Amino acid sequence: MTSKSRIFLSPPHMSGNEQKYINEAFETNWIAPLGPNVDAFEKELAEYVGSKGAAAVSSGTAAIHLALRLLGVQQGDTVFCSSLTFIASANPILYQGAEPVFIDSEPDTWNMSPVALERAMEEAKREGKLPKAVIVVNLYGQSAKMDEILAICNHYQVPVVEDAAESLGSTYKGKKSGTFGKFGIYSFNGNKIITTSGGGMLVSDDVEALQKARFLATQARDPAPHYQHSQVGYNYRMSNIVAGIGRAQLEVLDERVKARRAIFDRYVQALGDIEGIQFMPELEGTMSNRWLTTLTIDQQALGVTPMDIINALAEENIEARPVWKPLHLQPVFNGVTYYPHQEGWSVSDELFANGICLPSGSSMTIDEQNRVIDVFIKAIKR
Ligand SMILES: Cc1ncc(COP(=O)(O)O)c(C=O)c1O
Repeated sequence: MTSKSRIFLSPPHMSGNEQKYINEAFETNWIAPLGPNVDAFEKELAEYVGSKGAAAVSSGTAAIHLALRLLGVQQGDTVFCSSLTFIASANPILYQGAEPVFIDSEPDTWNMSPVALERAMEEAKREGKLPKAVIVVNLYGQSAKMDEILAICNHYQVPVVEDAAESLGSTYKGKKSGTFGKFGIYSFNGNKIITTSGGGMLVSDDVEALQKARFLATQARDPAPHYQHSQVGYNYRMSNIVAGIGRAQLEVLDERVKARRAIFDRYVQALGDIEGIQFMPELEGTMSNRWLTTLTIDQQALGVTPMDIINALAEENIEARPVWKPLHLQPVFNGVTYYPHQEGWSVSDELFANGICLPSGSSMTIDEQNRVIDVFIKAIKR
């Protein structure tokens, strides 16, 4: 083990302005959940991404759950979801008692394969059991092939929930990631491109649906002076203090995107010419926030596994991770239906087997990045 300082995968990066909004909340005693910071954060975020409205909630997971609830997902329904993602994308399907069906990635974006989606839709239609919703994830900041995916979903009249937890600030054909489906969601978890320590946002052009989301997120309290409830609700709203952090973070989002993209470019400069290393692509017409720099290795050409490299980095106090383990391989989803990109070719399995996420925090210094690069190169030459 080394005495060198720790380099994290994606640590929080405060701007300094957060304290101003938090102090305001303290000075006016808006400590209770909700308040002016929440209203302003919703408005500012909606403006930034170009959606008609936004509802601030306690996590990205809560935002997905509310979206599914608003779409009427319930027991006996199926919901299609990207397989290569963090489990939070799919857990809310189970909260609603519905059944997930996982869709593989395609190689150009690592995101949902329109080919596999079409196959899954055709089969579902034939069986008379179309899904209630499709959850499309934009992995590591890269947008999925939204045109193709929306064309399929529109054809079958199935609403889309865009899981943009990792892609805030990214664009697809000039439009902000997260604004393509009936609902979009963002996460402000500690490791995200901007963070509130924990939090999320639901966005939509359907402002009535967002109002319903706010109602459900505050215990579904009916308009009555006494406490009256006609349906099940949740305690999912964001607090006024947390929203203050979000407002200051949103001010620097574009800078954070620039910094992460510069980090990606430096990794490519240093490692991109090595045979057997392939960086995550950026689809033409899209701009990824490069939340995490990710790459795949040719294990045969390099003579190492991703874990060899990750362990070598760990020995030098550097945090790196494998690519998400696909959900169709997770024990909790044992037996769930899965549609690979092509029969006999599962792209997400390959990405998981060969992928590595490198430290990508927007506050990482050039010296720190050089440390990562040096260890990486030594590891593949061992
Ligand atoms: C793809 C994806 N979806 C959903 C989430 C859930 O967000 P949260 O942690 O805010 O609940 C995350 C991250 O945590 C994520 O990476």
